[in-house]
Amino acid sequence: MKKIITIDGPSGAGKSTVAKEIAKRLGFEYLDTGALYRAVALYLRRKGFDEGISDEDLRVVLKDVQIVFNSGHVYLNGEDVSKEIRTPEIGHYSSVFSARPVVREFLLGLQRDFPKHHNTVAEGRDMGTVVFPEADCKFFLDASTEERAKRRYLQLRQMGKEITEEEALKDVIERDRRDSSRDIAPLKKADDAIYIDTTNIDLQQTIDLILKNIEQNCFK
Ligand code: DC
Repeated sequence: MKKIITIDGPSGAGKSTVAKEIAKRLGFEYLDTGALYRAVALYLRRKGFDEGISDEDLRVVLKDVQIVFNSGHVYLNGEDVSKEIRTPEIGHYSSVFSARPVVREFLLGLQRDFPKHHNTVAEGRDMGTVVFPEADCKFFLDASTEERAKRRYLQLRQMGKEITEEEALKDVIERDRRDSSRDIAPLKKADDAIYIDTTNIDLQQTIDLILKNIEQNCFK
């Protein structure tokens, strides 16, 4: 098995940008597991399904789904859907469907296979607790709800999406509640993860802090 660094945390904590940069600096591959859940949600929405889908139907439908994550892009049955998955609707449904054990089971093998081939920085909600409990180094990135809503708002506006600050805050609160309260693999800091509150520090400071920690504590 190759080296694994995990970065977990709630939405809007800055995980993606930080994980990507850490991977680049270390020469590791970056695995965005939120993108995998989003690709599943996109497939299910395209087929017209919502939260009412039964476990049995989910199992049958997922038999036709192949997801690949490669060099920062996510492919759904061969189609690069990296852009299509970044809408508020798919964000919402990825959180909804990710609470379903059938979906989590479906993505587990895919996630665990990834570091068999590359040293990996894996980002998500349950990387340090469920998917890679034996990771070499674990981080949990957090920030206040208001700060995360502000970042989510700016990010979506930058992507040209129509959203108000109020809607962004509502979305962050709702997703926190759903991602933290689900029965299976809820968003939770692993006991051995290093907690970093990014409310009052910028991305560069967060990256520097993580790199310093990796240098001092990982791969001994
Ligand atoms: O990080 P993100 O916003 O792209 O993730 C989208 C949703 O996917 C998130 O609301 C919860 C779910 N998710 C998960 O349950 N477990 C992961 N490891 C990653 C994401």
